[in-house]
Amino acid sequence: MPLNANAEALFQGFSKLSRDERFKRLIEMGALTPADIDFLSQGGVKDTSLADKLIENVIGYFQLPLGVATNFNIDGADYVIPMAVEETSIIAALSKTAKWIRQSGSIETSMEGDCILGQIQLAVVQDFERLETIFNLNKQFLIEKANDDVAASMVQRGGGVKALKLRRLKRADGGDMAVIHLSMNSCDAMGANIINQVLEYLKTPIENLTGEVVTMCILSNLNDEKLATATVQIHDVDDGLGYKLQEASLFAEADPYRAATHNKGVMNGIDPILIATGNDWRAVEAGVHAYATRDGQYKAITKWRYEHGTLTGSIKAPIVVGTVGGVTGLHPTANLCLRMMGVRSAETLSRICAAVGLVQNLGAIKALSTDGIIQGHMKLHIDNLLMVAGATHQEVPELKKRLQNWLKVYKRVSLKNAHELLDELRKASKV
Ligand code: MEV
Repeated sequence: MPLNANAEALFQGFSKLSRDERFKRLIEMGALTPADIDFLSQGGVKDTSLADKLIENVIGYFQLPLGVATNFNIDGADYVIPMAVEETSIIAALSKTAKWIRQSGSIETSMEGDCILGQIQLAVVQDFERLETIFNLNKQFLIEKANDDVAASMVQRGGGVKALKLRRLKRADGGDMAVIHLSMNSCDAMGANIINQVLEYLKTPIENLTGEVVTMCILSNLNDEKLATATVQIHDVDDGLGYKLQEASLFAEADPYRAATHNKGVMNGIDPILIATGNDWRAVEAGVHAYATRDGQYKAITKWRYEHGTLTGSIKAPIVVGTVGGVTGLHPTANLCLRMMGVRSAETLSRICAAVGLVQNLGAIKALSTDGIIQGHMKLHIDNLLMVAGATHQEVPELKKRLQNWLKVYKRVSLKNAHELLDELRKASKV
């Protein structure tokens, strides 16, 4: 369901609200229903019969915190972004950065291409030229055969097999390896199952036609024929900050050691959405990192430039997701999260992921280029320290103030500090 027109006002002060107040706001925005709130309040899925359908040897569920990032306006529409993640400060930094963009800029997204990829390997080819001739003569026949049979339901939905391409790889022993690439539109499914079925279905006709032996059939996670893109523009940026952000980007564009951490910051935004919506985050991780190395050197997948007060950032990456089939359909929390975003197509979900990854990256490089990362992390970490140090309800406000002061002065704060400050506080209150 789309968020109602009042969403912007309802985002105000969201992080300061209690959980019940947040629920109320999410209902007012049109993001959740009272039934969703009941489900979440009762702890979500508990019955292991769902888990038994998904994996083997089930012993329970592993629970991650589920939160929402606010303030997002993507392509002119407001979104609440569900995020299943354990890392402190991801959601806070994301919501804060999205607010900055909402106030002074915009986020636009698009999609390039619509096909996922699969591979059929013929490890040792007797006669590559003969194979090539037979392949070219029968390519269309093979596409139509798959579309009429194993991919027929996909064709009915507007998708299906679109192309086959033959590649020649040189083997270390001097011989030829052939790889047939299959491009397929899997509509709103992530497509892993259907493309693997199609690839395996084509094994026998390919072998019968060519006399060569097919050795393996599997999808490729390097989906460079289906790329989600997002662009962020922010106006009235201070010169000092703008150039620092550009320098952070140039660093990650030039150096793989930095690029790995920079891209991890991007995935901090994307993975939690994938998990919350029941998507295969390992597939997206593999694809994004392979794509980041497409020129032969591992590079940043985002780029930031500053000119005359305007900061412009962009991302282009294979973020192949599904909104139907698999866990997305089976898991009630994944279903709830998709509804919360009002997402009806896999393309929209990919584009949202690209936008959120880019904004998360901006939040990270802004922190790194200004206060440093510790400051933001530690502010939130203080809440954990209060709890672990054993402060009582009455002691929490004063101890929090003391820990915050300590952080301001020494730029770091630990559990040892929390214990010592709590001891001091207790001694003082006895006097
Ligand atoms: C930490 O989870 C992510 C960062 O390291 C990303 C980055 O360095 O850009 C802060």
